[in-house]
Amino acid sequence: MSKKRIAVLVSGGGTNLQALIDAQSRGELVNGELGAVIASNPDAYALERAKRAGIPGYVVARKSYGSSREMTRALVERLRELSIDLVVLAGFMTILTEEMVQAYPNAIINVHPALIPSFCGAGYYGLHVHERALEYGVKVSGATVHFVNEEPDGGPIILQRAVEILEGDTPEALQRRIMEQAEWKLLPQAVSLFCQDRLRVEGRTVRILEA
Ligand code: GAR
Repeated sequence: MSKKRIAVLVSGGGTNLQALIDAQSRGELVNGELGAVIASNPDAYALERAKRAGIPGYVVARKSYGSSREMTRALVERLRELSIDLVVLAGFMTILTEEMVQAYPNAIINVHPALIPSFCGAGYYGLHVHERALEYGVKVSGATVHFVNEEPDGGPIILQRAVEILEGDTPEALQRRIMEQAEWKLLPQAVSLFCQDRLRVEGRTVRILEA
């Protein structure tokens, strides 16, 4: 089986990208290789992380295009040029149009910092997700890694992990704990499973096949 080429799409700090880079250097992205990092803004610190790891970095910025659709088309073209097999959205904050899902059906993975279907969908991103979870008073939150379909945060779930809310939690503290205990572990794990062809999508359910 030839190695799957992975592109990671980022907008900010890129700690999930770093988790993927670290997993790769430990040999834990079985049959996968990080081939490109694409940022939605040129100042994303994630680009610095890519550079340090020797991964080619690119910028595809929404403001360089007339519409989200045009931006998505440009992105798909770039992914094709780079022979990408798997697209990972790791804190990518720009909404893409359906051309992306059509070009990569069940081959786009997103990490979301809550237990979907709670605290997800339009307007739920980054720190806002944790603010809403604390406002609601839930006792557990967590992270979800899922395939991307046309519905925001609505695609088949690959992996989830719960994280407890603690007395006195702030959105920042909760965000950090969910990253450490869930996101940074689940995302590399899901990517590795994909690259080994061990994920089978059956309706809304993702079956994980034995190695
Ligand atoms: C992560 O918590 C990720 O789950 C979240 O943004 C953060 C990015 O951090 N993504 C979303 O909210 C998408 N809806 P990072 O740049 O340090 O990986």
